[in-house]
Amino acid sequence: MAARRPLIVGNWKMNGLAASLAEATALADRARAQAPAAELGLCPPATLVAAMAAALKGTAVGVGGQDCHAKAAGAHTGDIAAEMLKDAGATYVITGHSERRADHGESSETVRAKAAAAHRAGLVAIVCVGETLAERDAGETLKIVTAQIRGSLPDGATAANTVVAYEPVWAIGTGRTPTTAQVAEVHAEIRRDLLARFDDGAGFRILYGGSVKPDNAAELMAVPDVDGALVGGASLKAADFWPIVQAKGLQ
Ligand code: PGA
Repeated sequence: MAARRPLIVGNWKMNGLAASLAEATALADRARAQAPAAELGLCPPATLVAAMAAALKGTAVGVGGQDCHAKAAGAHTGDIAAEMLKDAGATYVITGHSERRADHGESSETVRAKAAAAHRAGLVAIVCVGETLAERDAGETLKIVTAQIRGSLPDGATAANTVVAYEPVWAIGTGRTPTTAQVAEVHAEIRRDLLARFDDGAGFRILYGGSVKPDNAAELMAVPDVDGALVGGASLKAADFWPIVQAKGLQ
């Protein structure tokens, strides 16, 4: 099995106007100058996917959506098909982010259908899992994460078309992060789950997400089975995002 190439993805969430594309091109300029080992992606709001993909064409930075519908087309006002993201120039799509699970009631079954849609469209699905603080305090973290992994990954998932992101809900946007031992414990469990179900389970990349910042990235990225990061707030500015890229890219 070839070594897993690190992957660092920025999730802009509901942030960014046309002027923000300058941050994406600034990131691509840094990548051109310093050629990091990590693969890079940015997931802007849907309104910017096509423009960002055009602006980043030919650079080392790929573009992704933040969600997709399970169907390829139809009467679903306000939704976006994976095929549309692909057509707009996307490479990735995030599915099952905890904000979608919480704000839009998405179950693991829904997330699984969306990940399958991503595969159908030729996109890499970045499938998010993670426990709430109440679940962690109840000692249920591994049970919850395993159930989400089993429920959210379609049978067609492979190391090439699927990335898992472990994002403890209580660490997202809070400035709090798990200890490295806690991250290692969950990533090892996810790896076991992947190995048990998929022939190429050793090749799937498992990202950590939740308050990854320039000052904690090196420590988090050095944890065994952490193959990169899914970064929210610190991905909005190239100057903040770049040290995180370097934290994995220099290892
Ligand atoms: P954060 O968000 O880095 O702002 O905590 C991470 C995420 O939700 O993907």
